[in-house]
Amino acid sequence: MARALSFTAGQLFLRQQAMHVVCWRQIHRCMSQGSSRGGSPGKGGPKRKVAVLGAAGGIGQPLGLLMKLSPLVTDLALFDIAGTPGVACDLSHVNTQAKVEGFAGDGELGKALTGCDLVIIPAGVPRKPGMTRDDLFKINAGIVKNLCKAIAEHCPKALVNIISNPVNSTVPIAAEVFKQAGTYDKAKLFGVTTLDVVRARTFYAAKKGIPVEGVDLPVVGGHAGITILPLFSQATPKMDMTEKEIDTLTKRTQDGGTEVVQAKAGKGSATLSMAYAGALFAEACLKGLNGQKNVIECSYVESTITDIPFFSSKVRLGPKGIAEVLGLGKLTAYEKKALDDMAKELKASIRNGIEFVKK
Ligand SMILES: NC(=O)c1ccc[n+]([C@@H]2O[C@H](COP(=O)([O-])OP(=O)(O)OC[C@H]3O[C@@H](n4cnc5c(N)ncnc54)[C@H](O)[C@@H]3O)[C@@H](O)[C@H]2O)c1
Repeated sequence: MARALSFTAGQLFLRQQAMHVVCWRQIHRCMSQGSSRGGSPGKGGPKRKVAVLGAAGGIGQPLGLLMKLSPLVTDLALFDIAGTPGVACDLSHVNTQAKVEGFAGDGELGKALTGCDLVIIPAGVPRKPGMTRDDLFKINAGIVKNLCKAIAEHCPKALVNIISNPVNSTVPIAAEVFKQAGTYDKAKLFGVTTLDVVRARTFYAAKKGIPVEGVDLPVVGGHAGITILPLFSQATPKMDMTEKEIDTLTKRTQDGGTEVVQAKAGKGSATLSMAYAGALFAEACLKGLNGQKNVIECSYVESTITDIPFFSSKVRLGPKGIAEVLGLGKLTAYEKKALDDMAKELKASIRNGIEFVKK
């Protein structure tokens, strides 16, 4: 009896292992296809060093894992104020190509950054219930400022993906730091708004009862509350939506972060979905660097497509970062009004960021 039981348990274990392998293959496939479709395997590809700053945190750890799984990454530098040697040792046992190194404390930041092609910044404090992204400003603004000073010194040509909130202000902070250092290249600085896109696609597909894998849907504006504007009128596959449905899904996308903060009840904000979104965007940047054609993602970047100086829209990624900031396309009356409504708040957040560095 005991033998029969352990045999069944063994079979179950093998089955679970097989399912894990299938799941990881799917993640690999999803990541290397991403939302831009098409990927290039690392074998024989260019060497690409990626650093994650804030790598021991809630986002940093799963993001580090997804970067370790990426076939486009050859060297992975994990930096945090503490805890990274353990995270790096753990990840280094994963049998994928990227060589992992952990760096802890300001004294090791330079080494982590040297030679980087891409730096991803999820360093800082996350939101607690009742806090807005702007409440984070005082702490995270200083963290991003200091990390960007180090980037300007040690890897001024790297692409920089900023996840730390409030993104509406931390990206202008980074731009200002780079300007002061004389290293600013607007084609290389990105605010990561991919989680808004990921959420909007998920909510749209669920509402319309269609497979989420085939859904494309731009999200424009900024990355906080009413500045987040999903363009459901441009979603594909196109589905009929009532005004009420559009309004409900727009608000749900805008409040997606708060939904997670409340569900986690004081234990942080979105980490796993953010790591997934951050990895998707990072891979898109690497594909662009590697010369893959037609890599398009939404991102919060310096922009002239509206009169708001930093704005999220579709961007085409290329070997030097942003190859082209794409326009908004045809907007509905609902979307035009939402754009007007967000302008004041978004401009104020940008001003706050710039003034923080200038003062
Ligand atoms: N862009 C988005 O869509 C999005 C979504 C979710 C969260 N966020 C933001 O991402 C940030 C991180 O969230 P989290 O949940 O991972 O927080 P967390 O507290 O779990 O992790 C943050 C990590 O940053 C590290 N850190 C702090 N100061 C640092 C410094 N000077 N240098 C390097 N590392 C430093 C901390 O030690 C910690 O390990 C927050 O600002 C959060 O608001 C952004």
